[in-house]
Amino acid sequence: MPSSLYKYPKQVCSSPSTPKTLEQDMAVYSINFLLLLLPLALSPLCLAFPHGAPFLYPQFYDHSCPKAHQIVQSIVAKAVAKEARMAASLLRLHFHDCFVKGCDASILLDSSQGIVSEKGSIPNRNSIRGFEVIDEIKSALEKECPRTVSCADILALAARDSTVLAGGPFWEVPLGRRDSLGASIQGSNRNIPAPNNTLPTIITKFKLQGLDIVDLVTLLGSHTIGFSRCTSFRQRLYNQTGNGLPDFTLDGGYAARLRAGCPRSGGDQNLFPTDFVSPARFDNFYFKNLLVGKGLLSSDEILFTGSPETRRLVELYAADAGAFFAQFVKSIVKMGNITPLTGSKGEIRYNCRKIN
Ligand code: HEM
Repeated sequence: MPSSLYKYPKQVCSSPSTPKTLEQDMAVYSINFLLLLLPLALSPLCLAFPHGAPFLYPQFYDHSCPKAHQIVQSIVAKAVAKEARMAASLLRLHFHDCFVKGCDASILLDSSQGIVSEKGSIPNRNSIRGFEVIDEIKSALEKECPRTVSCADILALAARDSTVLAGGPFWEVPLGRRDSLGASIQGSNRNIPAPNNTLPTIITKFKLQGLDIVDLVTLLGSHTIGFSRCTSFRQRLYNQTGNGLPDFTLDGGYAARLRAGCPRSGGDQNLFPTDFVSPARFDNFYFKNLLVGKGLLSSDEILFTGSPETRRLVELYAADAGAFFAQFVKSIVKMGNITPLTGSKGEIRYNCRKIN
């Protein structure tokens, strides 16, 4: 310990004592008492954010917009009742938002002067969806409590409500994110993993967001719901490594079925469930499928074949849906905490598609 730290208390204790009045004594006691209380008053914050995570908390709108949660939930429920896949699309929107400049609703911005929309990036083009549902939620919230609830928080709440509606776990969503003043198509192309990335590349892309291997395997469990286009996995069916052969980790019968709907050329937009057993149900069949070579994307199957560490987690979640759910709520809250704008940074947009 540096010597100056040793000296400081000594100097305080040995300061020459001059006679004090009762008022002076009382003042010193009051200040000491307040100093004593300060750490106690701040300790809930330390407990809530042990890793120095940003200051988001579930009660953020309790006074400013008490009906916010209910409004989001009812519009998401209506959309999912109309089309079950919408739950998956909304969950994915939150992910593609958070991996680019943090969870700041940058993904929702349309192109305009000075803004190149992330909607046109390689991972998003002809693929990402759900924007109309977010618009409907935002206009309902603007009527109820104008300029209060951010588009970034709407994405986080809609992802949670979608998961629950599909049969997955519930979690309290930390809130208080604000909306970005810009977008980054380069960030979208660079940060969001591609389905043909190697496992080390995918791990690195998660690590850059502060997410570890457990978060990676767990969050990829989101592919228990939703669909992928043929173009996202065609390579596996015909020419995985450039030698004209299919991915040998893919089950033969399953590959033949996929080839029937995903030819060598054409049919790019044809859709296939990422969990062929229960595509609308948030459960652990995604992991069970990986055990038998029936993961749809290369980036899915690679969790089982690519490393002992990811394989162990796949096996655990395939055997124990409770373990998957328990970790999912932790990992998705962690993802939702990626560098949000808080305080006076950013803004609360009137319209999620454009800056104010
Ligand atoms: C290695 C990481 C990941 C890769 C490579 C990846 C890749 C993909 C691809 C290629 C699709 C199909 C897109 C299409 O063909 O149109 C997809 C769909 C989807 N992804 Fe991921 N993903 C990853 C991680 C995640 C994470 C972390 C989440 C959620 C937290 C997620 C949620 C979803 C969902 C729900 C769908 C279905 C969307 C729909 O049906 O509209 N993905 N993903």
